[in-house]
Amino acid sequence: MNAQEIRRHYLSFFKQRGHKEIARALLVPQNDPTTLFTGSGMQPLIPYLLGQTNPNGTRLTDSQTCLRAQDIEEVGDNRHTTFFEMLGNWSLGDYFKKEQLNWFFEFLVSDIGLDPKRIYVTCFSGYDKYKIPKDVESAQIWQDIFKKAGLDHAMLDLKTEKQGSLIGTKDARIFFYQHKNWWCRSGSIDTMPIDEPGGPDSEVFYLFDSIPHDLSYGPKCHPNCDCGRFIELGNSVFMEYLKTKSGFTKLPRKNVDYGGGLERIAAAAIDSPDVFKISLMWPIIEALEKLSHKSYAQETNSMRIITDHLRGALFLALDGVVPSNKEQGYVMRRLIRRAIRFSFKLGIENNFLDQISDVVIKLYEQDYPELKTQQVKLKDILNKEEKIFRQTLRKGIRELSKMKDQKITGSDLFRLQDTFGFPLELSLEEAFSQNIELDPKWRKQFDQLLIEQRTRSQTATKGAFKGGLGGDSLIHRKYHTATHLMYQALREVLGDHVIQHGSNITGERLRFDFSHPDKLTPDQINQVEAIVNEQIRADLNVSWEEYPTDIAMNEMHVLGAFGDRYGDRVKVYRMQAKDKDQPFSLEICGGPHVEHTGQLMDGNKKFKIIKEESSSAGIRRIKAVLS
Ligand code: ALA
Repeated sequence: MNAQEIRRHYLSFFKQRGHKEIARALLVPQNDPTTLFTGSGMQPLIPYLLGQTNPNGTRLTDSQTCLRAQDIEEVGDNRHTTFFEMLGNWSLGDYFKKEQLNWFFEFLVSDIGLDPKRIYVTCFSGYDKYKIPKDVESAQIWQDIFKKAGLDHAMLDLKTEKQGSLIGTKDARIFFYQHKNWWCRSGSIDTMPIDEPGGPDSEVFYLFDSIPHDLSYGPKCHPNCDCGRFIELGNSVFMEYLKTKSGFTKLPRKNVDYGGGLERIAAAAIDSPDVFKISLMWPIIEALEKLSHKSYAQETNSMRIITDHLRGALFLALDGVVPSNKEQGYVMRRLIRRAIRFSFKLGIENNFLDQISDVVIKLYEQDYPELKTQQVKLKDILNKEEKIFRQTLRKGIRELSKMKDQKITGSDLFRLQDTFGFPLELSLEEAFSQNIELDPKWRKQFDQLLIEQRTRSQTATKGAFKGGLGGDSLIHRKYHTATHLMYQALREVLGDHVIQHGSNITGERLRFDFSHPDKLTPDQINQVEAIVNEQIRADLNVSWEEYPTDIAMNEMHVLGAFGDRYGDRVKVYRMQAKDKDQPFSLEICGGPHVEHTGQLMDGNKKFKIIKEESSSAGIRRIKAVLS
């Protein structure tokens, strides 16, 4: 079964078991200021895991495109990618551990045809500090499953992660770990922000015995060893806890949040420990081999990096991101530029992005037809970035030649990289070919500057995460409500061609991208501001109801966002004055919002547009504040 077939099988397996298939969310989270990218299938479902009713029911499934920018440096080994698809199924207070673990095993073994003997699992060992018990229940369910499959099923009790490496897999199939088997978005049980949901989890691994254990990772190999013999296929999170000021409490319902990497399951299905061999990636590698006249065996690392990064860049373009120096745009720029740099290593010169993009689009077009319909636009975005990067490179080479008569220091090299975007490897190669001498201490100085810069940017991201989740969420709700008012006001002033292309909210401002061909005139800006302020003063009531999607779209003409796909039922937010029989705004949205728009005044605050600029071709971007 190839990767595309596995995706389809998975969705139909869970649909047969009462699940509704929901549309993937965009890679850029809408109205969630806490993270740059959708990095797991559960992210768009957080309100429902916390207790809200989902219009599509209590059993959901999807394949969610994900991007984990933090893994960028790890790409190159046999299994890490920044872009991947997470197959997901959820129980919102419906079934729990027994169904989940049995179904996942059944799917892997009976549907996909994996060898049950090579399946190993892990469970949560408990955490006394927070009075969270050991997950004996999951382990017993696994014992029964293995017993039925005719397998040995010994359990190993590992209080700390390291002990795994002392015992290995010889005598056990079920392993308990502590930190590794707790899942929450912030990664660790000890650093969870207040109001964040989480829970013990059970991971399933597939053993690739043909790979020898690498002793540098510990004396023995075990499921969570990082040597590459074990590949994690999926994770069933039993999300029933909420972090509060005074410790952990139970969520209103016991949920299941399952996520598994499509690429990794597909690799296991073809018995390959190398995920790049799967049907969604191998054709890209073959195209690279052809373009470079080099083999994958020779250039494994470079080809893996290019393959991963260009898939990610194309899906980012599809979801409305354009390369820039900030936030999502910065990550996209990094992915494209890294791919280009590694193409130099392969000796590939021009037209590279264009040709590889065609291959990627072909692989995904059946399941993501919008890639095909927007092909020209998406390739244009990538090609433009390639052009800019090549100019940067030329500039860097010129700067370097200016230093011909001096020894180049680490700080020169850092400045070239940081200010001119000219990467270190290229500086070194260029210095070598131009016979320019390097200061013997360059490396130490360069590394020091790099560490300082990383510390600065880590501090910045930590702040963003904390500020979003722990901060005053009322201000986010206000900006979210203001966004709906402005969307409607823009359509009234500019026309019905205005469609939302992206939205991002922080505690300081809203940002909104929308289709419109021209710059807004000062008069149009004034009109939009006046309408929004009028609606704030009119103190509209904010409420929501669920509707069948086709009625919302075709009969009620509710606003949505470009590229969003919806399930059968949607939640529609209505903003309406008490004395009017028509709403001012009707929009498909997950919330949350304030209860009435007068709250946005908060004393004497007014809605103000502080910036209007082009975001990409045909798309304008507005930043606005309540001040
Ligand atoms: N949310 C869980 C994960 O991302 C399933 O691993």
